[in-house]
Amino acid sequence: MHFTAATIAAIMQFTAAAVAAPTDLERRASCTITSVSSLSSAKSSCSTITIGTLEVPAGETLDLTGLSSGTKVIFDGTVTFGYKEWSGPLVSVSGTKITVTGSSGNLLNGGGASWWDGEGSNGGKTKPKFFYAHSMIDSSITGLNIKNTPVQCFSINNSENLTIDSVTIDNSDGDVTDGGHNTDAFDIGSSTGITINKATVYNQDDCVAINSGENIAFTNGYCSGGHGLSIGSVGGRSDNIVKGVVFSDTTVINSQNAVRIKTVYDATGSVSNVTYSGITLKNISKYGIVIEQDYENGSPTGTPTSGVPISDVTLSNVKGTVKSSGTDIYILCASCSDFTFSGVSVTGGKTSTSCKGVPSGVSC
Ligand SMILES: *[C@@H]1O[C@H](CO)[C@@H](O)[C@H](O)[C@H]1NC(C)=O
Ligand SMILES: *[C@@H]1O[C@H](CO)[C@@H](O)[C@H](O)[C@H]1NC(C)=O
Ligand SMILES: *[C@@H]1O[C@H](CO)[C@@H](O)[C@H](O)[C@H]1NC(C)=O
Ligand SMILES: *[C@@H]1O[C@H](CO)[C@@H](O)[C@H](O)[C@H]1NC(C)=O
Repeated sequence: MHFTAATIAAIMQFTAAAVAAPTDLERRASCTITSVSSLSSAKSSCSTITIGTLEVPAGETLDLTGLSSGTKVIFDGTVTFGYKEWSGPLVSVSGTKITVTGSSGNLLNGGGASWWDGEGSNGGKTKPKFFYAHSMIDSSITGLNIKNTPVQCFSINNSENLTIDSVTIDNSDGDVTDGGHNTDAFDIGSSTGITINKATVYNQDDCVAINSGENIAFTNGYCSGGHGLSIGSVGGRSDNIVKGVVFSDTTVINSQNAVRIKTVYDATGSVSNVTYSGITLKNISKYGIVIEQDYENGSPTGTPTSGVPISDVTLSNVKGTVKSSGTDIYILCASCSDFTFSGVSVTGGKTSTSCKGVPSGVSC
């Protein structure tokens, strides 16, 4: 048998490694995955996992949960998903100090058209959620290109210090009759220290929806086709506290709403310390700015309740236009306090005649 120098070096390195009991990162290699079946061994033995072009079988999750601390995941190719009616998720990542990046040209194609029926998560086909970023600690997700999610895209829950940068979510193919619905781009719950920067979103529901959490920033974004930059609905879950939120330097276009805070009728919780600054609106069909404490899924009651007070809300430089059939500003409060609006100019739509409980210093 003939050993090459490289083989001998590898054997020696392996032996040395076995003897010296190195740290995980020394022992582990870089691995490229082209089928889901090789993932579980890669998770335990590789410090860098490159996901090449692959099809995730119907009804399975591309399961990147429980990664070792410091693991790097690189999406390098096109990932597609087999069709099945189930609740998903299609992709799931968790761990500490995880960096997920997309190489140029990467694509995660949810193939949403197979599920879309205009009903979203309210009925019709059972649709898989797309991407769970649950329990990601001190981690980042950068440069992913996502297309056509069956229903909601990112679910961020129980995460801390997670940065999501330069991610594109393009569900514009769902803008057809009986197409995409409830295709929220980023749903955030029970998380602290979340920054979403430079997201580009084309969808049919909230660009961002914060249900609970603390110290959350959405900056330099572009949101088209959806329901805008939302806090809420807040109330009725296990965690109903939202505090320390900044939305800044973002364009919201061709959407139902731009700035939205909605708390659930008769529920409890709180929303505090929220800033919207540098928000540009264009072609908004329903409300430029809407803050309502009467929310019930689909049909607000019209009667605000005070169980989820909204306080310390600053809007600065929120400017742009609403369609003539829409309403510029709508505020329906039972407990809203310490609001500051400066440089707020929302025009083109109707002036609401049904605002209630408008905090002092703010006009509706
Ligand atoms: C998250 O970041 C904050 C602020 O930098 C820091 O105080 C906290 O310890 C971090 N949390 C974790 C789990 O590292
Ligand atoms: C977050 O996860 C918790 C379980 O840890 C769950 O009870 C809750 O409903 C989730 N929140 C959201 C908004 O998904
Ligand atoms: C308000 O939220 C911002 C952003 O999360 C944070 O930096 C600031 O400390 C908070 N202010 C108060 C008074 O809690
Ligand atoms: C305005 O937005 C709607 C979606 O709400 C879209 O259908 C329409 O094409 C947009 N109009 C323009 C002029 O872009």
